Amino acid sequence: MQSRFAKDYVVVMIDQDRMTEGKETASQLRKGKRGGIPWMVILDEDGHERVTSDGPKGNVGCPAQPHEIDYFLSKMVDSTRKHMSDEDRTVIGREMRSHGAKLVRRNVPGRREFSAVVKDLKMGRFQAAVKQLATAIEAGYAPESIPTDPALRALREDPARRLELFELVKKNVATHQVQVVDRLEAGRRIRLDGRIVDMETGKPISGALMQVFHTDATGEYRPGMDAGGGAGNPRLWAYLRTDNDGKFTVDTIMPERYQNSSVPRHVHYRVWAEGYADFASECFFDADPLLSDKTRKAAPGRNFPIVRLKKDSEARAVGALTVRVPKK
Ligand SMILES: [Fe+2]
Repeated sequence: MQSRFAKDYVVVMIDQDRMTEGKETASQLRKGKRGGIPWMVILDEDGHERVTSDGPKGNVGCPAQPHEIDYFLSKMVDSTRKHMSDEDRTVIGREMRSHGAKLVRRNVPGRREFSAVVKDLKMGRFQAAVKQLATAIEAGYAPESIPTDPALRALREDPARRLELFELVKKNVATHQVQVVDRLEAGRRIRLDGRIVDMETGKPISGALMQVFHTDATGEYRPGMDAGGGAGNPRLWAYLRTDNDGKFTVDTIMPERYQNSSVPRHVHYRVWAEGYADFASECFFDADPLLSDKTRKAAPGRNFPIVRLKKDSEARAVGALTVRVPKK
């Protein structure tokens, strides 16, 4: 990569703290502007500034994230290169992206603690893995990743440990945008674009905790279980917390109906919010042929919303869901 850069650039590194007059030289080049280090400037033959690493989102002096690498290549390099070929640029871009991905991965909060979880799982220590997961969350691992993290599949599929995972996510979740299924899960992808509101006033409830769960593409909550006990310990689930406007987004699959049953497809949810009764209900889907006229008429009055799915601009099936919660 260095030889490709050398076609157009002479790299000069200034260490502000260790070099004689390093600080003065750096601040002269940076024109007194403050911000993080490393910082870069590309100068012409006469020492005049051509472009700096101050991008629209701040300094990209150490380009690691994709948008930082894009800025470095398309704004800094492309506006100044003369001898560097398109092939050179492609190779440099490829190397930067691969190196950047490693850097970004290394910086994920709680990553070190999370690798101990993975080790526990490999050794078959599932109970220890759940405990270690709590430590990883404290260190910054995102609790909302638990229902979909590929590394945790075995843990999620153990019904006894799953109940502990519910508690862990319930206690720690802070986001309003969640995924219920990972990429390997079969089923038609849908999104529920929701709001939790006060049943009487219609006012949004911010910071409400919600659990969502439903059957998979075979109509089961977990292997061999559809209705009854299965719903108490479902395989597909997520927890979320509504944002300041009471909103949430759930990306999941269309649940299948129970085998040998006429109950329409439905998504269950439970809500906990301060000043409100603990609340459980479910929503149905407008296009479901199992939704009888009788249910269709009675459902909204019984606080069972009917979701109508529509394709959004990215051809994703999205349905609005308003959850009305009664006061205590
Ligand atoms: Fe159900």
